[in-house]
This record gives sequence, C-alpha cells and structure tokens, in this order.
Amino acid sequence: MGSQGANLPPHVLIFPLPIQGHVNSMLRLAELLCLADLDITFIVSEFSHNRLLKHTSVASRFGRYPGFRFQSISDGLPDDHPRAGERVMDIMPAIKNVTGPLFKQMMIEKNCFVSPTRRPITCIIADGVLSFAGDFAEEKGIPLIYFRTVSACSFWACFCMPELIEAGDIPLKGEGMDLFVKSVPGMEGFLRRRDLPGFCRVHDINEPKLQILKSETRQTPRAQAAILNTFEDLEGPILSQIRKYMPRLYTIGPSHSHLTARLEAENIKTSISSGSFWEEDRSCVAWLDSQPPKSVIYVSFGSITVVTKDQLLEFWYGLVNSGQRFLWVMRPDSIMGKDGESQIPVELQEGTKARGYMVGWAPQEEVLNHSAIGGFLTHSGWNSTLESIVTGVPMICWPYFADQMINSRFVSEVWKIGLDMKDTCDRVIIEKMVRDLMDVRKDEFLPRADDMAKLARKAVNEGGSSYCNLDGLVEYIKSMVV
Ligand code: UDX
Repeated sequence: MGSQGANLPPHVLIFPLPIQGHVNSMLRLAELLCLADLDITFIVSEFSHNRLLKHTSVASRFGRYPGFRFQSISDGLPDDHPRAGERVMDIMPAIKNVTGPLFKQMMIEKNCFVSPTRRPITCIIADGVLSFAGDFAEEKGIPLIYFRTVSACSFWACFCMPELIEAGDIPLKGEGMDLFVKSVPGMEGFLRRRDLPGFCRVHDINEPKLQILKSETRQTPRAQAAILNTFEDLEGPILSQIRKYMPRLYTIGPSHSHLTARLEAENIKTSISSGSFWEEDRSCVAWLDSQPPKSVIYVSFGSITVVTKDQLLEFWYGLVNSGQRFLWVMRPDSIMGKDGESQIPVELQEGTKARGYMVGWAPQEEVLNHSAIGGFLTHSGWNSTLESIVTGVPMICWPYFADQMINSRFVSEVWKIGLDMKDTCDRVIIEKMVRDLMDVRKDEFLPRADDMAKLARKAVNEGGSSYCNLDGLVEYIKSMVV
C-alpha cells in the first residue's frame, strides 16, 4: 500500500451524497478535520464540484489547508437531469449502480490515494446512505464511519422502518395520517403517520424510495462509528435510543456554528461560506439594514423544494395580507410548471416592492443572524433548521419531503420553537401563522428560541458536548493509524 511515512497525519476520505444539503454539512466536517491537521480527500460529483467552484469561495476556503484535496466522480446522472423536486431522488439508484463501481475502481487504481506525502486512506467517512462505500471499506479492512446529515429524530424513524411496517404504521395511500405512531420508541404520544419521513408516504410497501431508505439506514450499525450533525441538549432522548444500536456515536453539531467557533478560536478570518450551488445575492443584506429589528420574516425552501404557481400565489397573498415585511428566496429552479409557467407570476414581480424583497439565493446564515429577522418560513431542511435554532429565530414549517416532515413536528411539538404548517398551503392559514409568529404569539416563541440558541452555542464552544465529541472523534481517527 505504498509509503507509510511514520510522521504523516491520518488520511481521511469523506464521501457525501452529492446533493447540496449533504455536501454542505460534510464540507464543514472536512474543514473541522483540516483544522485538526488531518489529511482529507473529499469525493464530490463532477456536477457538484463545478457548481461549488463556480458559485462559492470554496477554492480559497480550502486553499489554506495543504492536506485537503477534492476528487471528483460521476454521480451517474447527465448534467441536465432535474436536480430539484422529488426527481432529485433519482440520484440514489444512479449513484449505487454507476458511482459505486467507479468508486471501487478509483480506490484500487489510485491505491487508496497513497503518495509520498500522504498515507493510504486511514478511514472512510461516508454518507450513511452510500452503503457501497461501506462494502468497499469492509472488503479492504478500512475503518468505516457513517455520517448521517439529517436529524437524529429523522434517522431514528427511518431506522425503525421494519417495526413501522410490521405494526402497520406506514400511511399507505395516505390513510390514517392523523393516527399516532406506536412503533418508534421515544416518539409515542406525539408522532402521527403524517409526521413520518416523506419516504413513508407510499402506495405500496415495496416502493423503492421506502425500501432504499430502510435498507441503507438499517445497515448503519456495521460502521465502527457514526456522526450526527446535532447536539445532545436538542435530541438527547432520541440519541439514547440510537446509542443502543450504535454506542460510538459522535454528535458534533450544529456543524456550521461549530466550524465558525473553531475558526474564530484560531483567528482565521473567513466569510461564512455555506457551500451553496448558487450565486448569493447580497443586496438583501442592505435591504435588511433598513428594516426595524425583528420585523422581517425570511422565506426560503432550501435547494431542492419546488412549488407550483398556485402554491406560490397562496404564499404571496398570505404574506402580503399578513402585513409583515418579508425577504423571500425564489430559487431559479423552484417553480414547477410547464414551460412558460415556471416564471415568477407577475403579481409577485410587481407587488414585492411594498414590504417585501426577493432574491434568487441569499447568504442564509448571515440573513438569519441579521437583527431585522424575526421569523423563518422554512421547508424544515435540517441545515436550515439548525441555522434557525442557532440564531434563535422561530419558524413556520412547510415541509416538502424526506426528513423535513419529522423535523417540522419536532420544531412545533417537542422544542416548541415554531408552528407546523404541514400538508396545507392556504393563504388564510399562512396569513394567520405569520401574524402569530411575528406578532400575536412572539412572546411565546422568542424566549424558547433564545434558550435553545444558548444551548446550541454552549455545545460547540470549548467544553461543550459537540466540541468534546469532535476532539474525541479526531483522537479515535488518530488511533487507527497503524
Ligand atoms: C437537503 C434535504 O432537502 C433536507 O431535507 C436535508 O435535511 C438535507 O439535504 P436542502 O433541501 O437543501 O437539503 O435544505 P437544507 O438542509 O436546509 O440546506 C440548505 C442549505 O442551503 C442551508 O445550509 C442554507 O443555509 C443554504 N441556503 C439556502 C443558502 O445559502 N441560501 C438560500 O437562499 C437558501
């Protein structure tokens, strides 16, 4: 396997599912490990790599770490394949059938990326839905760590899929959506069928999206360790359930604020780069500067959600009729419709000027940190949810698919830092929820959101649970060096 180089640092291969929300948090893990002087080879799809280099400061951000390398690979989809909406899940079979064999071939041809200045791979940190990477690690005797980029509550519900199927808790054809689920330990009494991860919304138990998530998630315990982008004070009871199957579980989140804290501690000045695949329109920051404190609701549905023109108009009229100011991210590929229909409706283009501002993509972490922001109308993607928790911004949750369904239920029923608008899109409900969050019930939500923000910051600062877990993870990886 080539030179061992006694004094060479451990060499970690990091492999995310190449979609924005997964790449984001695993890039932050990569940078945290670079700060601990580990060598990193980061596998990224050609499509994602091009988008990262084109739209973000990722090149300069990682240029300061001599031990960091990108390695691109095909994700098995043509560049013009839809990368938004539920079609994004087409990547799962493509990555298994195309990228999997390419990955194995690359690892063998490149001799596990060994070189005179780099050890062969010491361990593989793979996205927990890439079981082919686990197969390779096991075959070659390389230590394997899985990183699941979703919440612990979503991971745990997916892990319990066999029990959910057995108990008949899967909402086949949308039946019994408001029945409480009894087969996810720790979630009895508040989790309904409609709150289960979107993969459970099937017509038939054998539907691929349910089966793939069930099998990929159930194989997680074969890894020597697992990493979650969460923190103990947020999801403690669920983490205790998971640790019965995976005792070596490192919670290191919120990964974005953890990275910021460590960079500040090292006096490294850097823009908060979210690793977005789109050009950020920073003009919204100047607009926020001219708004009163906590007077603006920020509206953004992440990098995958798509909305119909009718849904867009419901949100538009709900926001305008609420009388609140709003900053709305209208991602270029977010309007689902036939040609000609995927344009922003003219009402939105004309009327926004009054109390609203629209951008194609925002510097979201900076926006949520802005004093003018008083609420976040979100799709409950896990990165957005953590970013809102860290900044103490209450949420209105409109989940689209996947883990977002269960995240929104925890925001409203467990952490009580927002409202769940799941499965509705009606201008009257939107207007009422915006008024409630931003005005009528703000004194109920703001103190709780502020308390949770303090716990998040405590977790990532020196002596906090996530800070100590990351140090423990680094020591564990260093112990693998033979
Ligand atoms: C995907 C899945 O949809 C989500 O359910 C899962 O939890 C993670 O993978 P995505 O839909 O993109 O993620 O949502 P999210 O996890 O919130 O990630 C979006 C990222 O884009 C966030 O880090 C956010 O800060 C960033 N963003 C979003 C911007 O930088 N600007 C924007 O205008 C909108």
